[in-house]
Amino acid sequence: PPSILGNCKTVLKCNTAGENYADINWDELGFSLVPTDYMYVMKCAKGDKFSQGSILPYGNLEINPSAGILNYGQGIFEGLKAHRTEDGCILLFRPDENAQRMKRSADRLCMPSPSNDQFVNAVKQIVLANKRWVPPSGKGSLYIRPLLMGTGALLGLAPAPDYTFLIYCSPIGSYHKDKKRLISSLLIITGALNLKVEDKLYKAISGSGGTGGIKSVTNYAPVYTAITDAKANGFSDVLFLDSATGKYIEEASACNVFVVKGNASFTPAIDGTILPGIMGKSIIEIAIDLGYRVLERAVSVEEMLGADEMFCTGTAMVVNSIASVTYKKTRMDYKTGPEALSAKLRTTLVGIQTGCVEDKKSWTVLV
Ligand code: COI
Repeated sequence: PPSILGNCKTVLKCNTAGENYADINWDELGFSLVPTDYMYVMKCAKGDKFSQGSILPYGNLEINPSAGILNYGQGIFEGLKAHRTEDGCILLFRPDENAQRMKRSADRLCMPSPSNDQFVNAVKQIVLANKRWVPPSGKGSLYIRPLLMGTGALLGLAPAPDYTFLIYCSPIGSYHKDKKRLISSLLIITGALNLKVEDKLYKAISGSGGTGGIKSVTNYAPVYTAITDAKANGFSDVLFLDSATGKYIEEASACNVFVVKGNASFTPAIDGTILPGIMGKSIIEIAIDLGYRVLERAVSVEEMLGADEMFCTGTAMVVNSIASVTYKKTRMDYKTGPEALSAKLRTTLVGIQTGCVEDKKSWTVLV
C-alpha cells in the first residue's frame, strides 16, 4: 500500500488565507460531543417532499411530548466525516452512500427522506458553516450526524404527521480514546480491541425481517447492557451472534467485522440483519485491490476462532484491529501491528479520506 508517512501528496489546492480555527485543544479529541456553532434543520409534513432547509445556531430543540420519535422510536441517523487535507481543503467521504442509506432506512420506517442532492448539499452547507471546527490536518475529523425523525404529535401507533431532518457536527479524534494511539504524520493507529462474544443477548431486533439492516435509532441502546458488562470485565467491545442459531458472527456494537485467513478475508454477508457499513463496503474494494480474496458469507464462531487476524470497520472508528476475541471461556489472540492487513487497509483508506492517497475511485467530495 502507498505510504503516507510524511509524504502526503495532495493535488488539491485550497485558499486558506484568513482562515481561523476554534479555540480548543485539538490534541485532546476523542469521540465525545464538542458542540459547534450551527446545525441544519429542514422540515416536511407527511405526504410532502422536503424542500427548503436552514442553518440555525446549534442548540436545544423544542419537541412535542407525543412526537413519533419520542414515543415510538420513529427515527434514523447517519454518520460521516469531513477531513482537512494538508493543503487545507475539506473532503467528505462518499456522502452519497449515506444519502442512499438514509433513504432506505426512511422507507422502512415510513418516513419521507431528503433527495440525494438535498442530503449532500445540506452536509456541505453545515460543514462550511462550522468550518472552524474541522480539525487541522492530522488532528482528527469533523463527525457529521444527520438525523431524520418523526417530530409531529400523535397518540395512536402510526407514522407521525411531521418530520425533521437535522444535521449537527462535532470534531472528533479516535473512537476508542482509551486505546493508545500513535500518530505519525496523518496516520493514526488506534490500539487493538479485545472483544467479548455476547452469547445471551442479541443485537436489537436483528432477526430476519427486522431492522438490523437500517440505521434506526432503536437499534443502538439495546447493546448497552452487554457493553457495560463487557467493559466492566476489561473488554473493549461486544461481538454479537446471529439470533437464529447463535453460531455465526454478525457485528460488534457499532461496527462491521472481518476475519482474515491466509490471503482471504471473510465478512458476514449483508442480508438485512446487520448494517450495510460504508467503511466495510470501501474496505472490501481496497482489500481486493491489494490482492486479497474477500468473501461475504456466513462466518461461524469456529471459523473466527481459527482465523489469523480480525478487524472491524465503521465510520466512527474507520478500521480497527482486534487483538483478541473471547467466546465463553476460549480466548483467541490475533495478529496486530503494522504488518496486519488491517493496518494496510487503514493506511489506504485514511490516505484517501485525507487526500494523501490518490482517490482513483472518486470517493471523496470537495466541500
Ligand atoms: C458510526 O460509525 O458512524 C456510527 O454510527 C457509530 C455510532 C453508533 C457511534
